[in-house]
Amino acid sequence: MKIAVLPGDGIGPEITAEAVKVLQALDLKFEMETALVGGCAFDAQGHPLPPATLKLAQEADAVLFGAVGDWKYDKLDRPLRPEQALLGLRKNLGLFANFRPAICYEQLVGASTLKPEVIAGLDILIIRELTGDIYFGQPRGRRTAVDGHFPGSEEAFDTMRYSRPEIERIAHVAFQAARKRSRRVTSVDKANVLETSQLWKDVVTEVGKLYPDIALDHMYVDNAAMQLVRAPKKFDVVVTGNMFGDILSDEASMLTGSIGMLPSASLNAGNQGLYEPSHGSAPDIAGKGVANPLATILSAAMMLRFSLDQPQAADRIESAVKVVLASGLRTADIHSEGTKRVGTREMGDAVVTCLTHKTTTKS
Ligand code: IPM
Ligand code: MG
Repeated sequence: MKIAVLPGDGIGPEITAEAVKVLQALDLKFEMETALVGGCAFDAQGHPLPPATLKLAQEADAVLFGAVGDWKYDKLDRPLRPEQALLGLRKNLGLFANFRPAICYEQLVGASTLKPEVIAGLDILIIRELTGDIYFGQPRGRRTAVDGHFPGSEEAFDTMRYSRPEIERIAHVAFQAARKRSRRVTSVDKANVLETSQLWKDVVTEVGKLYPDIALDHMYVDNAAMQLVRAPKKFDVVVTGNMFGDILSDEASMLTGSIGMLPSASLNAGNQGLYEPSHGSAPDIAGKGVANPLATILSAAMMLRFSLDQPQAADRIESAVKVVLASGLRTADIHSEGTKRVGTREMGDAVVTCLTHKTTTKS
């Protein structure tokens, strides 16, 4: 099992180190290799996704990714910005299916800004298409070169684009995921305005006919954004395009109390995957040892389940996280009165202790 570890920028290295520690505490054999990605790769090697990093990722069974980005790169030409590393990995590895679960842990009900009754027991899964849409359609702007020149015009555009096969394959992923859950899929679009969305809706409806056991409904994205805070538990699997999925998954994450808790998986057709926390690089708290490593640790669990065929190890990590939360340990983002505030490393250590303790008592 070969894992490419790409810590990236900001809090990326700190949180990734904790996830690596947790993986090493399992009695499994991994080959792990680390490489630069994002702003730090640009600084060291002149490109956010150096060829050696891409090669390492392509040859691995899975990629454990921290986060990329920092304000200081905002002035760079678009292709050199840290975020392009992530987009490049997604595109090059064909990681079209992005799973973003939003689960409200019992112990964290109080950490959300929403009323407990609205979010207690919440368990929804956002499936975001990740290699198409306006993210990858033709752009034109001040920092996009046209034939090697920057037009410097006062107009800019990006193109929203989807093809039938792209929609079909993500729809299948959603319906199949729904079969393992409560058999409901909500497809989110903006078909009342956008042609891309009309195609999306039509194709998802067609694919849905192949899954008569799954209830499908459609929702406009503005309404979905509203329903997500009004009655989030009405959703189960949400499937949507790249742009809407980006926005709705951030919104969904806050229902659970903290974006610091949410893992994600991005898979290709061969189950090779990139695993990363749903949150960003948080440069404001980087290097302070206060970031929550749980989203990355839970991403490592998803990696074990989806790409490395180790579901039991994944379960062990997830239960260890629950035990640690139940014991009252909290990083700053989920801290509340009556709980014990800890740093990044202590949180990782606690998960490791819990894992190794369990192994000893079992054997
Ligand atoms: C995400 C992030 C990325 C995205 C950025 C960093 C390119 O916001 O993974 O949600 O927009 O997809
Ligand atoms: Mg995002």
